[in-house]
Parts: sequence; C-alpha cells; structure tokens
Amino acid sequence: MEIVVSGIRSTGNLHLGNYFGAIKNFVKMQKENKCYFFIADYHALTTHPKPGDLHGMIKQVLAEYLACGIDPEIATVYIQSDVPEVSELYLLLNMNAYVGELERTASFKEKIRKQPDNINAALLTYPVLMAADIIIHKANKVPVGKDQEQHLEMTRRFARRFNMMYEVNYFPEPDAYNFGKQLVKIPGLDGTGKMGKSEGNGIFLADKPEEIRKKVMRAVTDAGPSTPGEEPSEAVKNLFTIMKVVSDPETVKYFKDKHASCEIRYGDLKKQLAEDIIKFTEPIRLRINEIISDNKYLSRVVADGAEKARESASKTVREVREIIGYRPF
Ligand code: TRP
Repeated sequence: MEIVVSGIRSTGNLHLGNYFGAIKNFVKMQKENKCYFFIADYHALTTHPKPGDLHGMIKQVLAEYLACGIDPEIATVYIQSDVPEVSELYLLLNMNAYVGELERTASFKEKIRKQPDNINAALLTYPVLMAADIIIHKANKVPVGKDQEQHLEMTRRFARRFNMMYEVNYFPEPDAYNFGKQLVKIPGLDGTGKMGKSEGNGIFLADKPEEIRKKVMRAVTDAGPSTPGEEPSEAVKNLFTIMKVVSDPETVKYFKDKHASCEIRYGDLKKQLAEDIIKFTEPIRLRINEIISDNKYLSRVVADGAEKARESASKTVREVREIIGYRPF
C-alpha cells in the first residue's frame, strides 16, 4: 500500500476550496492507501491566533474532517502538535534547508506582502515543517490543491538532499496528487483569485443556507455578454467553475448556452448555484454540528490518532538520528 499524508491548517472553517482541492481526495484515497490526515496546528501559529481561540479552531477542523467522511477507523487522523517527533525532524531538516531557497518561495513572498508586520522565522521555514510532516511517514502521495505544488517540490528537494548528503536511499520523494487530470483550484466569489479562509470570498461547509444565498447573490459578475459566443469574464468563469463541481452537467450546459446566446440572467445563474451549493453542503453542516457536540467521540479519535501517528513518526526519527550519526552511549 502506498503511504498518503496531507493536512490542513486550523486557521478557520473549511470552505468549498478545501473540500474540492483536498478533502474529497482524502476520502477517496483512504480505502486504497495507508493514510495520515492531520490538522496543521503548528503551521496555524504563524498567524498568531489568540490562545482562547486555538483549541476551538482545531476542534472545528477535526469535526469537519470527520463530517466529510474521513474515517478514523481506516485512516490515521491526528493533530500535528500531538506528534512532537515532527518538530524534531523539522529541526534536523532545517540544517540543510537554505535561506536563499526559502526566501524565494512564492508563499513566503506573498506573506511578506500580506502581513509585513509579522514576518516571523517560522514563515520562512514553513516549507521545512511541511516537508517534515510529509516525510516523517515516508509518504509517496500528498493530495493537495494547486497552491501547494511548490511546497511539494521543496519537500522532494529536501528528501533528495537528505538522501544524497548521507548517501542513503531513505526518504521517498512524494508527489502531489489529485484524482482529476489537474490539481483543482476553486475560485472565490469576488471575481479574482482562489477561495481562501481569510479573503472573505469563501463559502464554508458550516455556512447556513441563508448565508450561502446571501454570499452567492453578492458574487461579482459583469454587465453581461454582448456578442454571441464571447468568452465569459474572469468573474463569471469563476461562477461556472464552482457550478461545475456542485451542479449537474446539464445545469452547467444550460447556463453556458444561455451565456453564449447572450440570454443569460446572472440572477438566475446565482439562484441555481446557491441552491446546488446548499444541496451539497447541508448534510455536511448537519453532521459537523452533531460531531462537534460529541466530545467523548472526538477525544477518542484524537487519542487513537496520536498513538498511531507517533508510532510511525518515532520510528522515522529514530532511524534518521542514526543515519545522521547519533549513537547511544
Ligand atoms: N501548507 C498546507 C496548506 O496551507 C497545509 C499543510 C501543512 C500540509 N503540512 C502539510 C499539506 C503536509 C499537506 C501535507 O494548505
């Protein structure tokens, strides 16, 4: 069986982008692979959450994982900070990660732009921690969205560098993975860019139907097509992209044809889109609410997951220490 690792930061409720970019694949992969799915709560600290919020945010993402169909009886589901071996591997990998390559990472440059008053060292070494998460279980496949491609490339580089440096063939080089032809990118509702937790352009799995209707009706569009067959604008294309993942193919075709013949009414498109999103998210939302109030169940899942994850992680760290040259006295 191949080994699969993936995680999502606990920085807010999960949205449609998380679902279609990552979790949908997690659920599909869990039966045929040995899977480790975790909540990246160390990574979440780079944006300095308040101590009073941290636990609730972790709990929310955990409940959302489970509500989406990740089965802790099959996959290992755990909280990153429950596995301190990750931080040891992170420290060891930092020794051969170079500041230059870290500074050139797109996500780091973006953070410099977005949070200029909090450019902490952990943002710089974020890809090293992510590599540690992945190779600590000697993963082969990592289901992630398109935005994580570069981090995966760096993970492969760090794994390869470790192998070369110590002349071993220890870490496999993991690949980004998606079931479709390409890595999926779900756009936001504001006409530009991807759906994000902090961008204010997202639809959350836990959103109530009324919120979803309101958000979709407010989504950015344009003045409408004026010549038959013309390319939709970026904003309208984005709505079609979301529609493609939640609506029937006939529905998508219907509105595309209406656009092509300049008869489209964006209000109708949005109404349909909102109802199709609700149809998709409503059962998940109800399950999230059920699971989140079941503390006994959640604490059992977390304890089991930590135990299984640490078993695999501590074996790797033991072997890595040996490869590096640590010897018992
Ligand atoms: N960087 C990922 C994100 O922002 C989260 C993440 C942390 C991750 N460690 C990982 C994803 C390991 C896959 C594997 O979405």
